[in-house]
Amino acid sequence: MTQAMGDRTEDIEIRLLLEALFQKYHYDFRRYAMASIRRRLRQAREQMGFASFSLMQDHLLHDPVMLPRLLDYLTVQVSEMFRDPSYFRALREKVAPHLHTYPSLKVWVAGCATGEELYSMIILFREEGLESRTIFYATDVSHEALRRAEAGIYDLGRIRLFTENHRESGGKSSLSNYYTAAYGGAAFAKNLRERVVFADHSLATDAVFGEMQLISCRNVLIYFDRVLQNRAIGLFADSLARKGFLGLGAKESLRFTDHSFAFLDFARDERIYQKRSAA
Ligand SMILES: C[S@@+](CC[C@H](N)C(=O)[O-])C[C@H]1O[C@@H](n2cnc3c(N)ncnc32)[C@H](O)[C@@H]1O
Repeated sequence: MTQAMGDRTEDIEIRLLLEALFQKYHYDFRRYAMASIRRRLRQAREQMGFASFSLMQDHLLHDPVMLPRLLDYLTVQVSEMFRDPSYFRALREKVAPHLHTYPSLKVWVAGCATGEELYSMIILFREEGLESRTIFYATDVSHEALRRAEAGIYDLGRIRLFTENHRESGGKSSLSNYYTAAYGGAAFAKNLRERVVFADHSLATDAVFGEMQLISCRNVLIYFDRVLQNRAIGLFADSLARKGFLGLGAKESLRFTDHSFAFLDFARDERIYQKRSAA
């Protein structure tokens, strides 16, 4: 068999595996970007010791224990607090003044992973005097990631980077005000979570959330193919209130999506958009 035929057979097996995952467990990874799915599934197959994806599929269908293990490979949980500080600076300096004009706010952090982006957002809202009027929705397709987000405990070794990012984002207090050293890590204060609703939600299969003033979804759409990116952006357009803000971060953009007409550029470099009033 030639290399090209072998690769084609592997892609067929991968597609069948993803179909089995969807049919049996309703997790839909069928429209993720193939290159990264292939890379991560190859790693899973090798580390779990399967000779082929077809054997892996058979196992997945008959042994539910495989499901969380496979999801761990399929979802990438890399995150950090105040990641790309200029994004949070733009939220602080450009978006917050608009948010001050609303008596109540709803903010959705979609694909929140283990919570670093969520806590960054809450701390920023507290520092800007917006927290007490806001409900935060933190969602992810990974139940395990959400569980860790709810716990809000991070490795102490990461705190230096988080502190530096927070400072660069224009942080108005010391990050150490928000956590205590506990359980061998930095435990973020419970009161930061008081206004948060954590929910399992997949941008691939689930429906809209209502009337948000701000949606932040960073480093998630890069894993999707064009069709799924369109679905997710459509969901955001429908979930935002008029003149609501959508933050995608520097790696992603609305260009080439079906919904770009619904938004105006608001902070171009940080890819923060504002929904048009008539959209
Ligand atoms: C790299 S992390 C991004 C974390 C955070 N937003 C940040 O920028 O630091 C990507 C997250 O997207 C989540 N994800 C992947 N597919 C998803 C989907 N269909 N719906 C919701 N979340 C998804 C993964 O579980 C993972 O937690």
